[in-house]
Amino acid sequence: MRLSLKEKHRITIQGAKAPSGGNIQPWHVSWKGDEMFVHLDSKRKQSFLDVGSSASIFSIGSFVENIVQTSEIMKIQVEIILSEKISDDALIAQLKFSKQTKKKSTNILGGYIDERTTNRKFYDGRLISSAEISEIMDMPHMFKGVSLRTEFLNSKKKEISEIVGEGDIIRTIHDKLFSQMMLEIRWNDMEAELSRDGLDIKTLELPKYVARMLNLISKDLKIRKLFPRNVYGENAKVMINGSSHVGCICIDDKVNLESLFNAGRVLEYVWLKATAKEIYIQPWTVLTFMWLRLSQNKGQGFNEDEVRMLDSLELRFKKVFSIKKESTPIFIFRIFKSKPPSRKSLRRSLSDYCKALT
Ligand SMILES: Cc1cc2nc3c(=O)[nH]c(=O)nc-3n(C[C@H](O)[C@H](O)[C@H](O)COP(=O)(O)O)c2cc1C
Repeated sequence: MRLSLKEKHRITIQGAKAPSGGNIQPWHVSWKGDEMFVHLDSKRKQSFLDVGSSASIFSIGSFVENIVQTSEIMKIQVEIILSEKISDDALIAQLKFSKQTKKKSTNILGGYIDERTTNRKFYDGRLISSAEISEIMDMPHMFKGVSLRTEFLNSKKKEISEIVGEGDIIRTIHDKLFSQMMLEIRWNDMEAELSRDGLDIKTLELPKYVARMLNLISKDLKIRKLFPRNVYGENAKVMINGSSHVGCICIDDKVNLESLFNAGRVLEYVWLKATAKEIYIQPWTVLTFMWLRLSQNKGQGFNEDEVRMLDSLELRFKKVFSIKKESTPIFIFRIFKSKPPSRKSLRRSLSDYCKALT
């Protein structure tokens, strides 16, 4: 039995609810019969941190995980054929769908895709039990080469928040990184609605005076260098140290298209499980992509001091999480209970990222 147009619409739209760095939504999709082709949208992946399209491939992994979970609910089987590397047409994955008439679905994670969201609020003080954390972090063995770690001890969170805070300082002082971050922000409702991508200022949960100051700085980027550097590490200290747990997704094998894609699938899988338990996640993961720039791109774009600093932060970070020297931390996130976010981020309309559905 073939998939109906309505089913293809639903599958595609649920996929696009995946998280992406700066809400860039780096995917482009086309359908041919019951096959979907997921490409990188090369116009959308130009960030300094998207080293070799790593962050974009990671997000496409999350996009496909949403599709797998949605198809499960719809009793549709998906076969994933992954590209080996990025070719000229930037095809990442080909998905073959087929309807199953008899299979009964027991997995309901796909039902939480609409609720999954980045929450940047402060946590409400409730600790998450180790049983709940183990359940969320328990990973199916199919995601080969990817592992997950969590830390919750206060002494360790303090060290993690200081490391991550140093990363924020580097990002704020670095001209390219900071100007790209400013371009991601949508400063008012009209801007957010027009682009339907980027970071709506209201999703950042900043106190009003901080949002106003940031807006001022965005008009003259030099202003940020008038303040002592340390102020830019304070937010991470408060937010990470104040979370229940901190998690990290690591790639234990080689960093390549397959491992990045699988790591993105793992993130979405874990995030949906957390959502089902009314537990929130906020990525805090600029550092991991800066580290990737050191290992994959010889640190191009960073000065000597920054390279030295980033190297030493990576050593400290691996020590706290007991990560092996040869493994690559790829995604850091805080885990907590809290009120829901004030606003959810938007997505581009289907016609923007999907060629005609037939
Ligand atoms: C690779 C990647 C990196 C991200 N980095 C951060 C981050 O450092 N800080 C943050 O608050 N959110 C971060 N996010 C979350 C995105 O901003 C968020 O997914 C996007 O704005 C869409 O919002 P949603 O998750 O609520 O759907 C990241 C997401 C991805 C996939």
